[in-house]
Amino acid sequence: MAKLIDGKETAKNIREELKKEVEELGLQPGLAVVLVGEDPASQVYVRNKEKACATTGIASFKHTLSAETTEEELLGVIKDLNSDDKVHGILVQLPLPKQINEHAIIEAIDPAKDVDGFHPFNVGRLTIGRPTYSSCTPFGIMELLKRYDIDIEGKDAVIVGRSNIVGKPMALMLLAKNATISICHSRTKNLDDKVRAADIVVAAVGRAEFVKGDWIKDGAIVIDVGINRTDNGLVGDVEFTEAEKRASYITPVPGGVGPMTIAMLLKNTVEAAKQSGK
Ligand code: GUN
Repeated sequence: MAKLIDGKETAKNIREELKKEVEELGLQPGLAVVLVGEDPASQVYVRNKEKACATTGIASFKHTLSAETTEEELLGVIKDLNSDDKVHGILVQLPLPKQINEHAIIEAIDPAKDVDGFHPFNVGRLTIGRPTYSSCTPFGIMELLKRYDIDIEGKDAVIVGRSNIVGKPMALMLLAKNATISICHSRTKNLDDKVRAADIVVAAVGRAEFVKGDWIKDGAIVIDVGINRTDNGLVGDVEFTEAEKRASYITPVPGGVGPMTIAMLLKNTVEAAKQSGK
């Protein structure tokens, strides 16, 4: 039976560590959160980000814009935030309404305030192994692996999903720790065989129980990024009950990877504040 990786408890510990760090910092870190439109899921995420800031002593500045906001208007907001000294981190909640080009917005954020780690400058730094702001979900996964003393070096890691937010940066972070990586996706042949060979499986496809439990090798480490609402409640991208019997470590859904994302956003924001004082 696998050991459960407790993201909820780990995230709480990180928030407490950051709170102490903030108290000793001598300036208050500030995070601007920009929400365009009324997507209910995004509203929940943004509210949770504000709450997490409050528990950590980070100032949060919320900017709510209508669903009809133009790209120029949003670029104007970002320009103001880029030059606001109280703001150390800028987060534009994705997805954006379709009249706005997401790439243009991400590229307008000052890379020094890009606490989401989405700007091509920071992605490039991640690629060549330079210190950077890293995308919060894969960064949170690395932190879980570290805090559970899970060895990565030389392991075969299979990542299912190739998004810019999770799959690709996850691969780069595991590679930086000397794993051998495969990024699998919807066109991958014989996915089950690839997962069966994996020492570390990261499932980030956004489809309920897409990775079958009997694909998991005995002793493998299973990281489930999925949060899928079904008639049976929230389930991950991995068939948990079967996978749990085979894995050595597994993240539950909910309470695994999910809570770590915001904790790492706070960590990046505190780091951005520290860097701004240098
Ligand atoms: N939408 C879903 N995940 C994220 C994230 O990590 N950051 C932002 N900005 N938007 C998201």
